[in-house]
Amino acid sequence: MTFQKILLFTDTHITAAGADIIGLSPQERLKQGLEHALATHGDAKAIFFMGDLTHHGEEKEYQELRDILADVPLPVHLTLGNHDQRTPFAKVFGRTGFQHSVSKFGNTTVILLDTLDEMAPDKHSGLLCEDRLEWLRDALANADGPAIILMHHHLAPTGFDGMDAIDLRNRDEVLDILTSAGNVRHIINGHIHRSIFTSARGMPVSMIKSTCHQMPLQLGPGSSALSVNEPGAFGVLLLSGKQCILHTEDFGLTSAEVVEETGSFTP
Ligand SMILES: [Fe+2]
Repeated sequence: MTFQKILLFTDTHITAAGADIIGLSPQERLKQGLEHALATHGDAKAIFFMGDLTHHGEEKEYQELRDILADVPLPVHLTLGNHDQRTPFAKVFGRTGFQHSVSKFGNTTVILLDTLDEMAPDKHSGLLCEDRLEWLRDALANADGPAIILMHHHLAPTGFDGMDAIDLRNRDEVLDILTSAGNVRHIINGHIHRSIFTSARGMPVSMIKSTCHQMPLQLGPGSSALSVNEPGAFGVLLLSGKQCILHTEDFGLTSAEVVEETGSFTP
């Protein structure tokens, strides 16, 4: 089967002036991830960044991101997360309004949603306002084939109570639209900084890790601000029109040498 390949990055949390996050450099992590992804998946058709592009939503942080992305030899699609801010983003990238897009890969439509709500009462939950809901209805109606949804905030519970308190606030309304469209094959989000696989109303939902800091596996009650130094990761999405396959790849491991076992070993 022939697949079209796209790369998924999320929660890059770029800082400025060399500031670290729990001792990690988001810039260096992103560069490392891009180098790894482009070396091993240079045949990808595009790369999507699923929000929390920066850590504080500051103009100088977006400038750092723009400089890192300048040499990426693929079409780059960006959307925003709860750590982003629209005005500084627009100043640097020259893109105003909602950062959503529709891309076609074969007969599969990839819909990138912008779930940032800068007026969120809790500062970090997401929302699709009426304008964006209308845009989503139209995008799905025009898809003419299977659709994949990429977004920052999650619409399925994760078991992390702190994160589930800052999910997509109108998730039920969004799920009504996705289910009634009937062509959504997979929903993929960031925000949690952890690999999670679940479903919502029968639709597969996957969440991928940050390129930088991750959420420790401390389920139940707890802060949404917990972080742990585990490897960064990105997603590799394969689309055939009949099937959607999501792989995740850790990078920056101490040893990632590929070895072929000569015995009977099979993973
Ligand atoms: Fe994040």
